[in-house]
Amino acid sequence: QRARSLAGKHVLVTAGPTHEPIDPVRYIANRSSGRQGFAIAQALAERGARVTLVAGPVTLPTPAAVDRVDVETAREMADAVAAALPADAAVMVAAVADWRVEATADQKLKKGTMQPALALVPNPDILATLGASPDRPRLLIGFAAETENVLGHAAAKRTAKHADWIVANDVSGDVMGGDANTVHLVTALGVEQWERLPKATVAARLADRIADALL
Ligand code: C5P
Repeated sequence: QRARSLAGKHVLVTAGPTHEPIDPVRYIANRSSGRQGFAIAQALAERGARVTLVAGPVTLPTPAAVDRVDVETAREMADAVAAALPADAAVMVAAVADWRVEATADQKLKKGTMQPALALVPNPDILATLGASPDRPRLLIGFAAETENVLGHAAAKRTAKHADWIVANDVSGDVMGGDANTVHLVTALGVEQWERLPKATVAARLADRIADALL
């Protein structure tokens, strides 16, 4: 079988968590390692795509021939995504923080008699914004990390965010930071169940499907 090519295509990938500052030394984060998103960026580049990888704070090496833009917060990620357009396809793998601290402190919060109360405000939804944008990539793919009702939430997310495909995974087990992933590909046609696979294999299969879809 001939290796499918993405030559001449620009694909945007987001990966990793975001960090939302509380004060100069503290932040809110999540358990995303960035490994699945980096593996997808690598698989796309290996198929000849020009890849822009917008990465939250992770300690992973940049895959060969991938253009990497490092960001910290959700708002920085949104700006970097907008700046990277146009793209033929986008794969939004990042575990973006849903909320940020409304008023970050300029100085380190000190221990004392009062417990600090953090007021949170919602972050922009980067995938949904892209889905509704005039610059929407032809193929828009989101991820859905869920701990229950995985397929129901994924299907709802696909329509709500105007995505073509949602890669749904159950993160109630050892997915975060682990080597393997069990995903379902949710499209307009239905649900494909993929067996438990190394993250690199999930990435290779998804990159092949992207190449087919962009033909
Ligand atoms: O709503 P939820 O966070 O579960 O949606 C997950 C999908 O949406 C992922 O593709 C993620 O990268 C994307 N997302 C985003 N911006 C947000 C929240 C999620 O791009 N603020």
